[in-house]
Amino acid sequence: MNDSWSPRTRAILAGRPDAGDGSPANVPLVSASALGLEYSREVGTPTWAAFEEAVGALEGGTATAYASGMATVTAVLALLPVGATIAVPVYSYAGTRSAFDHAHQQGRLSVRRIEPTDTDAWVAAAGEVDVLWLESPTNPTLDVMDLATILDAARSSDATPLTVVDNTFATPIGQQPLGLGADVVVHSVTKFIGGHSDLLLGVAVTGRDELSTSLREARTRTGTTPGALEAWLALRGLRTLGVRLAEASKTAAVLAERLGGNPTVERVRYPGKGAMLSFDLADGDAAEHLCANLKLIHNATSLGGVESTVERRAHLPGDSHVAPGLLRLSVGLEDPEDLWRDLSAALGGRPS
Ligand SMILES: Cc1ncc(COP(=O)(O)O)c(C=O)c1O
Repeated sequence: MNDSWSPRTRAILAGRPDAGDGSPANVPLVSASALGLEYSREVGTPTWAAFEEAVGALEGGTATAYASGMATVTAVLALLPVGATIAVPVYSYAGTRSAFDHAHQQGRLSVRRIEPTDTDAWVAAAGEVDVLWLESPTNPTLDVMDLATILDAARSSDATPLTVVDNTFATPIGQQPLGLGADVVVHSVTKFIGGHSDLLLGVAVTGRDELSTSLREARTRTGTTPGALEAWLALRGLRTLGVRLAEASKTAAVLAERLGGNPTVERVRYPGKGAMLSFDLADGDAAEHLCANLKLIHNATSLGGVESTVERRAHLPGDSHVAPGLLRLSVGLEDPEDLWRDLSAALGGRPS
């Protein structure tokens, strides 16, 4: 892979079979538990390997795919010694937070919670804890963490904490945390990389050989292996990530601006790039009303697909930091004007 190629080009080229007369353009969907005397749970399959090679080429490390984003998170947490202290964002994906809470309650990890945007507190923690778990932008409040400063502090600290970045919202095209000094990057591939709301998959990427070996061993031990079809579909999804993200980001920027000008919208949370945004209405009833009145945008819990989806996150129990009126919008590939007409009508205004 040519180092000067952009992420978008890498996403198209990486993980292809060697070119040659009669060789297929794409890796086939290999569905096999055994490859001769080798067992696929242990050695992987050519389809997983192609997907891993492609994600690794984008993030700049060696990738290991898992059955889901949470299987990936679990594999990374399983690397930590019992009693390790981990600093985590107060606000981040609820499933990951629940994994931290569970490990804490079981006495396996000691969890310290820090506001995502309190960079000073993260820098201080870099000298005191064993692990920094970062997620940026955060789900669902779209807080942006100062990854460069925090990772720099971690690298130069005597405590040398392990640094993990959940890069699901930014995608490997939007940012590459390994290049900023992170040890491990994790993704819910289910979201933007897969891109079509038709699979569950996860991936961990690291530039450190010993961590890569441990991550592989964790997959073998726990059996959290990717499905054959899922890995094949995810690689197909990854091929178009660049163009999907570019288009959806343009639309998201337009919608963020127009939502900001709507009198019923109290606050828009948009990091300035990417396909995710959140906005706050006055209360839970107003947010539910909006969801019920959208005709084009699906009210659905997942994100990152070609179809736009909206969710009032506070409808889930246990997310007390999420305001009742907060709506998370995953912007897809529909015509931006159709999306705005839908939003604007459901907000009670006239389409503009
Ligand atoms: C930021 C983030 N990380 C991890 C996950 C977990 O991924 P999965 O649902 O594929 O297990 C999600 C799922 O929503 C997520 O949004």
